[in-house]
Amino acid sequence: MSETNPTARPYFERHIFFCLNQRKNGEACCANFHAQEAFDHCKAQVKQAGISGPCQVRVNKAGCLDRCAAGPVAVVYPEGVWYSYLDNADIDEIVESHLKNGQVVERLLTPAHLGR
Ligand code: FES
Repeated sequence: MSETNPTARPYFERHIFFCLNQRKNGEACCANFHAQEAFDHCKAQVKQAGISGPCQVRVNKAGCLDRCAAGPVAVVYPEGVWYSYLDNADIDEIVESHLKNGQVVERLLTPAHLGR
């Protein structure tokens, strides 16, 4: 086991987590709003942009992120920026602006008061 080096770069510069939760009881959930399609599209766009992999971006699946009322949602770390998206064009903007260039996409920010 290696020692921790606080000055080392993080393994990934950014993660984007997509809620892909599917509820079976009929309650609203991100999977009912094309979350899987958005995740797949994001993964493909990040790869195509050449920003996928170590020291760059990782696109991750997640279960319920507990902000269902704002779904479908994705969150970008380390900034902790939450997005509510509608379609692939929104995903393209998040990839190009935030994941590639570090600029938050203000128009897609999840309203602060929306939780579960
Ligand atoms: S079902 Fe997606 S945040 Fe809860």
